[in-house]
Amino acid sequence: MKVKFAVIALAGLASLGLYDSRLGAQAAGKNVWDGVYTKEQAERGKGLYAKECGSCHGDQLTGGEMAPALAGGDFLSNWNGLTVGDFYDRVRTSMPLNKPNSLSRDVNRDITAFILQANSFPAGTTDMDTKSEMLKMITIEAKKP
Ligand code: HEC
Repeated sequence: MKVKFAVIALAGLASLGLYDSRLGAQAAGKNVWDGVYTKEQAERGKGLYAKECGSCHGDQLTGGEMAPALAGGDFLSNWNGLTVGDFYDRVRTSMPLNKPNSLSRDVNRDITAFILQANSFPAGTTDMDTKSEMLKMITIEAKKP
């Protein structure tokens, strides 16, 4: 009976993508401190954020009346241990709240790069990908490991 429950629980986690993405991230050993986006991507993302997200989440990412902050301690503790891919997919499929799924992968990628920059994670020389599977190999670590 116990074994059966464990199998069902694992299958449930795998179907949510959580089990896979955490294992993948550990295997690849990359995290947000490794320079996972470029300055150019973040710069483009800054303008796109202002246009698509700022009205609700605040120009300084501090949140609004309804929308939570996208930078700082609370935000980072929400996402700590998850992956950049989890974040990217969350934004891609549910934001902007008033027209979800309307932005291209390139736009979502650049906005993700900008949000990483705004949370003080360093830029690097490798372009950030637009594939969720690739981004799921990068762990969000609130504190430099
Ligand atoms: C019309 C207002 C509005 C716009 C525009 C909007 N959001 Fe949101 N967003 C919200 C609200 C309200 C929530 C909280 C409810 C929810 O999670 O659906 C939220 C939640 C989120 C979350 C989850 C935060 C967390 O820590 O769990 C993220 C990430 C996010 N938004 C990113 C974005 C990005 C990036 C954009 C621009 C592409 C954007 N949002 C545009 C209103 C908005």
